[in-house]
Amino acid sequence: MTGKRVSKLLASAAVFGVFATSAVAEDVEVLHWWTSGGEAAAVGVLKEDLQGQGVGWLDMPVAGGGGSDAMTVLRARVVAGDAPTAAQMLGFDIKDWAESTGKLADLNAVADEEGWDDVVPAALQEFSKHDGKWIAAPVNVHSTNWVWINKSALDAAGGKAPENWEELITVLDAMQANGITPLAHGGQAWQDATIFDAVVLGLGADFYKAAFIDMDEGALGGEQMVEAFNRMEKLRSYVDDNFSGRDWNLASAMVIEGTGGMQMMGDWAKGEFLNAGQTPGEDFICIRFPGTQGLVTFNSDQFVMFDQGGASEAQFAMAASVMNPTFQSAFNVVKGSVPARTDVSDADFDDCGKKGMADFAEANAGGGLYGSMAHGHANPASVKNAIYDVVTAHFNGEYDAATAAEELVNAVLAAQ
Ligand code: GAL
Repeated sequence: MTGKRVSKLLASAAVFGVFATSAVAEDVEVLHWWTSGGEAAAVGVLKEDLQGQGVGWLDMPVAGGGGSDAMTVLRARVVAGDAPTAAQMLGFDIKDWAESTGKLADLNAVADEEGWDDVVPAALQEFSKHDGKWIAAPVNVHSTNWVWINKSALDAAGGKAPENWEELITVLDAMQANGITPLAHGGQAWQDATIFDAVVLGLGADFYKAAFIDMDEGALGGEQMVEAFNRMEKLRSYVDDNFSGRDWNLASAMVIEGTGGMQMMGDWAKGEFLNAGQTPGEDFICIRFPGTQGLVTFNSDQFVMFDQGGASEAQFAMAASVMNPTFQSAFNVVKGSVPARTDVSDADFDDCGKKGMADFAEANAGGGLYGSMAHGHANPASVKNAIYDVVTAHFNGEYDAATAAEELVNAVLAAQ
């Protein structure tokens, strides 16, 4: 949207009393957690796009994968009366902010003008809207059930990409025998939970839904959950001893360099491989976590704007930019994610991106699309954090599988 169109929009919205004021700000201060090499490259695409429209970018990065630290900083700033112009946010956090604070700006004027209702999948709108109003602009769709494998390491381990749990274990064993760290992983709660998303989904879509979305006690504490924890224990045996606290992008670097065989991580990991000059199919391959083909656990990064006594021209320009189809292609090609709109061509995407777009469309149409527990799209932060605690305690050897399943029930019940 051009500056002129934004002004027109603001003018017509003011006539209908949509905004309290039409304050104009030329800069946007954006709070986000995109600090790795690949993520910073994606931020650069957004920054440039906005600068092209005369909107300056004030960077407010808060390091910490998954965004928990960013949310803590955001809360402190809002409480201090110093909200940023915009903030990156995930799923249930958006709902929480909208319900509990009422401080998020109403983006309906721009959303209506640009027809967001028609191009954003309902699964995303569920988090972008509150009381029928658009309060967030989705910039992408990521998914968590991916595995990123070093191509040479896979060739040395037999060359066949694993399609089920047994084949996965065969490849991991072969990588171990070849003297590399089979599973590159960072011991941080959100990373443990990202693997857990895929392990639970691999035991059945109905099971995933019952446990994480419906929070059914039978699923949370039953035999299948014990099996999920057994599988986590098995995967833990392929991780090196220095994993504790390691950032996710350093685990990606192990796979890029070939000291690690594979990483189980959302598709933001692809941004690291691309940023290192690697090519899918040649240097690395991307597969769905074995046993989850056809299913997608998604998370969508969205930008909320803080209502600062009326929507500003810069906020509207940013929201319109984020949703522009050309921008959605350019940004997501770099970020590793796929567009949040259904009308963007996959022409500029690499093979993993094309697969991501096709998988998302298929899962969305066929009922195989589920919100990611690990990334705030299955349940509220209190429940998510309770699950994190149990998964990490078990991964670090504090509980056996049966105890972990029992603890999971207790933790989720207490958190609701
Ligand atoms: C996710 C987010 C991604 C990426 C990742 C690692 O929650 O959706 O965009 O930033 O965390 O930090």
